[in-house]
Amino acid sequence: MAETLRDRAALEFALTLRRRWADTLYPRLRAEYDAAAASAPLHRPEDVATRVHALPSYGGFAWLERGAQKMLWRAVMNALSPAGEARRPAGDPPDVVAGPATLELDPELRLPEWYTAWDIHVQPGGVWSSRLAARVYEVGAKLVMLGDNDDYKFHRLFVETAIPRREYRRIVDLGCGFGKSTWPLKKAHPQAEVIGIDLAAPCLELAASRASAQGLAIRFRQADAASTGLETGSADLVTSTMLIHELPLDALAATLREAARVCAPGAALRILDFQSTGDPVRDLAMREHGARNNEPFMPPMMAADTARLAEAAGFRNARWTAFDERSVGRLPDLAWPARSEWHFPWAVLEAQRDR
Ligand SMILES: C[S@@+](CC[C@H](N)C(=O)[O-])C[C@H]1O[C@@H](n2cnc3c(N)ncnc32)[C@H](O)[C@@H]1O
Repeated sequence: MAETLRDRAALEFALTLRRRWADTLYPRLRAEYDAAAASAPLHRPEDVATRVHALPSYGGFAWLERGAQKMLWRAVMNALSPAGEARRPAGDPPDVVAGPATLELDPELRLPEWYTAWDIHVQPGGVWSSRLAARVYEVGAKLVMLGDNDDYKFHRLFVETAIPRREYRRIVDLGCGFGKSTWPLKKAHPQAEVIGIDLAAPCLELAASRASAQGLAIRFRQADAASTGLETGSADLVTSTMLIHELPLDALAATLREAARVCAPGAALRILDFQSTGDPVRDLAMREHGARNNEPFMPPMMAADTARLAEAAGFRNARWTAFDERSVGRLPDLAWPARSEWHFPWAVLEAQRDR
């Protein structure tokens, strides 16, 4: 992707910083915490932050999390911009590779204020502001997984291990982005009508284009996940991956109600997102990641009882299980294998629509 030596060096540097932050700095912070905790145990969870903030490695750890992320976006933007990627005037016809995927854009849709107010993930202009933003997001999303997701294994694992194996007529993927969560649903269930919903028109254009290039007949539809415009009781599976931590709690509750509305009786709900681990250092780092990565709604989402919210919306048997993105995918309980490096506490919320 990077054509010049300068762009390749910038990308390499940003990724190396990120890798060392995860595999060297985080374990060092953790070891410092464990040493301090051994000599002076803490009894109240609220004291953990004070203790962690006083550790020698904390300043570097906190700064590097945000600094390396900003550097990565800049490096990706620089690498894409000179190639003239998608910098075309507004009003150009959609940039869709002809093929079986379809695109339903809504020119009347007003993006919610909470959605445009933050450059989510510290990506300048968010994922919605231009075609370049969508391309930058596509490339950045691959790079941040540090080579472990070049073939989108993460979402394939989700589909293979967290989705009930049965015939589906209609599958709805809420907050589908540029489509990496939606394509594997169609590949695994080619007979189903698969619909990806997102607010961001540039992401949907890219999603449809990439789906068509793979021969996937997916409907990509611009709408709020809380108001999809789809027929009541028409879906037998509703999914979302990496969406709900981006929603304020009232929008999350409305999205769960909308999911319940479009679900047929007995339909499945599967949501991939984050949950707390019970490890005070990891949970604090995750809470603070929300602030350092411009994800203001992540900490309230993680503190909320989202399983209860799903049940209040009309689902039953709602429960979270852990998800190990490296190999096995969905785990039977909300417990993750031990890992020394920093990683996200991925988890799956599973529930069933009342009959
Ligand atoms: C982190 S991305 C995840 C994309 C995709 N599901 C994946 O796993 O790669 C979150 C996506 O949700 C979209 N989004 C956020 N709030 C939304 C809402 N209320 N309705 C529809 N899409 C939304 C964003 O535009 C973005 O594309």
